[in-house]
Amino acid sequence: MTLGKVDVGGAAPYAIHIGNGLLGNAALLANPLRGRHTLVVSDEHVAPLYGDAVVAALRAARPDAQLAMLVLPAGESAKTFDNFNRVIAALAEMGATRDACIYALGGGVIGDMAGFAAACWMRGIDCVQLPTTLLAMVDSSVGGKTAIDIPQGKNLVGAFHPPRAVIIDTATLHTLPPRELRAGLAEVVKYGAIIDPGFFDWLDAHADALLAMDAPKLAEAIARSCTHKAAITERDPLEHGERALLNFGHTFAHAIEAEQAALNGQWGAGLNHGEAVAVGMVLAARLSARLAMATPDDTTRLTLLLERLGLPVHIPPGLDADALLARMRLDKKAAADGLRFILWDGIGRARIVPGVDERMVLQLLREG
Ligand code: NAD
Ligand code: GLY
Repeated sequence: MTLGKVDVGGAAPYAIHIGNGLLGNAALLANPLRGRHTLVVSDEHVAPLYGDAVVAALRAARPDAQLAMLVLPAGESAKTFDNFNRVIAALAEMGATRDACIYALGGGVIGDMAGFAAACWMRGIDCVQLPTTLLAMVDSSVGGKTAIDIPQGKNLVGAFHPPRAVIIDTATLHTLPPRELRAGLAEVVKYGAIIDPGFFDWLDAHADALLAMDAPKLAEAIARSCTHKAAITERDPLEHGERALLNFGHTFAHAIEAEQAALNGQWGAGLNHGEAVAVGMVLAARLSARLAMATPDDTTRLTLLLERLGLPVHIPPGLDADALLARMRLDKKAAADGLRFILWDGIGRARIVPGVDERMVLQLLREG
């Protein structure tokens, strides 16, 4: 059942389809497939749940297709050059031509990595995003950012490569671990925080229903989030301006994720991406209040909503403030003129603030 469709315009337009059971819709899945070579990329958690359905639907609609499935390890620690190379090797193995298509079936890790392989193979082939986490549905599958991690930082190697289509099957959320649902809700809250105070109020009113997996409310949250992401990335696909607002909380989050990875020897240890974004948004709100851009009441409202959604709001113990600050200087969002943050003037009113005093940031990090 189709619940919604969001069209993304610009130089490479595509549609985001939202519905219950869409992975079984053979015509919808096969529609973007221009050539014959078809590679479904998934991970070892998602493939056993949904891989067969996707392959069966594609086979039914396109019996002529040359279809292969690649199953990679799950989780952030798998977003590596090695696994990227395995996607490239699978394309080479099937002799994929320029009209080949990758179907990225999974969360943001698979979507980013398979999308990057699609951007690189023969300088760019189609990628259809089939997101199966809430985070991927509302954020990573839309807008064309693709990447892998390296030890020096997250997403440091990547490309802008818009998907050919995004097909969101909300039924896949039923198998998602509750912790991953909450992580996705952090990115949903982000849209209210940066651009849509009415949506923030709506989330406040329906937090319990969302946590309880109320289907109509979840579908509405996904559609409203995708509408915002689509509009922003259509206006600013390459992040020359407004798109940077989507990084609210992310300078802090990426530093936390990188520092945890350094301490534990692998990406994905400790807080996951959505959880780190929750902490990062609260730190951004606190920094905004300290700079007298917003009131402490705004910080409190954000903190309370995230806590109700079961998300962390403080830096995990054991992370060193100086080390976090050093990571921030390396972040892609750092500019030549010093630390640049996405801060807010209050709920729904985010903006880019360059040249933030490092001492103030360090103080905030020390407080946790
Ligand atoms: P993830 O891809 O690691 O998925 C989380 C876990 O859930 C994994 O273990 C996965 O196997 C499992 N899973 C996925 N779908 C499932 C389902 N339906 N049922 C059961 N288990 C399921 O993590 P994520 O939170 O989806 O994505 C995080 C990544 O996305 C990060 O690498 C982040 O950098 C990236 N990201 C990218 C963008 C972008 O614009 N490209 C935006 C936000 C985040
Ligand atoms: N998640 C940030 C972006 O897509 O720009």
